[in-house]
Amino acid sequence: MAYLDHAATTPMLPAALDAYVRTARELGNASSLHASGRAARRTVEEARERIAAALGAGPSEVVFTGSGTEADNLALKGTHWARRSEGRNRVVTTAIEHHAVADPVAWLGDHERADVSELGVDKLGRVEVDGLAELLESHASEVTVITCMWANNEVGTLQPIREIVDLAAPHGIPVHTDAVQAVGHAPVDFSASGATSLALSGHKLGGPAGVGVLLLTRDAECTPLLHGGGQEREIRSGTLDVPGIAALAEAVVHAVATSRAEAERLAALRDDLVKRVRAAVPEAIYNGDPDDRLPGNAHFSFPGCEGDALLMLLDATGVECATGSACSAGIAQPSHVLLAMGTGEDNARSSLRFTLGWSSGQADVDALVDALPEAVERARTAGLT
Ligand SMILES: Cc1ncc(COP(=O)(O)O)c(C=O)c1O
Repeated sequence: MAYLDHAATTPMLPAALDAYVRTARELGNASSLHASGRAARRTVEEARERIAAALGAGPSEVVFTGSGTEADNLALKGTHWARRSEGRNRVVTTAIEHHAVADPVAWLGDHERADVSELGVDKLGRVEVDGLAELLESHASEVTVITCMWANNEVGTLQPIREIVDLAAPHGIPVHTDAVQAVGHAPVDFSASGATSLALSGHKLGGPAGVGVLLLTRDAECTPLLHGGGQEREIRSGTLDVPGIAALAEAVVHAVATSRAEAERLAALRDDLVKRVRAAVPEAIYNGDPDDRLPGNAHFSFPGCEGDALLMLLDATGVECATGSACSAGIAQPSHVLLAMGTGEDNARSSLRFTLGWSSGQADVDALVDALPEAVERARTAGLT
């Protein structure tokens, strides 16, 4: 099997799995006062310190959550609720956010009557900062929060977070960034970024699924989504998942420590994949920024093919990848990211994403390149009929 879908989820790193199993054998609620509880608390606090140190944050800025989706929801709804007032009820987002951001923002618009402004992107999938400058000239005092992802999950394009923060800061507007695809794959320093909050997710960087983090500055205003035991600065109630947190810390530390060398290795493998896919299918269109993108991401449109058909044909040969399309009522919808980049509906529907990770090697690329020409041929024929 060639697994080319590491952006969906990547295998747990051996050290993270060991930490998970070791900690899962231990008893203790991190909020209990007895010796077992104190031992669990020690494990959590050590993990918090290690995660903070790896990402340029302070330990008290680490808020453990149950997923990247929860971290994004908490940052967006929590910040909006805490900061909204008479005359301040606007959320600024971008056209290429993951659903974990796009949907809570839409929900705030539909259910909380928030005004929503959306920043566009250029044809490489990079957010247009000029649009934000213009918007802030007339609407800065209305904005509760600005959100922009660190790196796009479909086409891999890295985003201008620092520029966005520099525009927001003079107005005192907090910036949230969804760094779920970036942490462990690109350099991420929370303090240097100037962002007020940042979401990450365990299962995208070699940790377990079902555990995430919201990095949140100490002075951030954020209303909790969950009420209960008052854990995590009273911002995120709920008994902590101690094994998940221990494993996440192991994964973050490892992924960050090796990210420079790993980025070089993956970029070389990815460049080989891109070159050989283009040679095998000359009409293929390489999407996203050719240079400023995640090292393990390659994204193509294969004109004349339905992305889903191509995916299933490749799957039948043991090659696993992803389409950018989402299913709505059983009908494949073209990716909102590609449409925002100006790609036509047909090419948006014919796209596939190949993503590499720590367990990827040359054999994965070879398997794809071997299987692709015939799969494209068959998908094209099916598409035409
Ligand atoms: C950019 C981005 N944000 C958020 C998420 C959601 O993270 P989780 O799966 O931990 O809920 C994902 C997962 O695909 C993602 O790619």
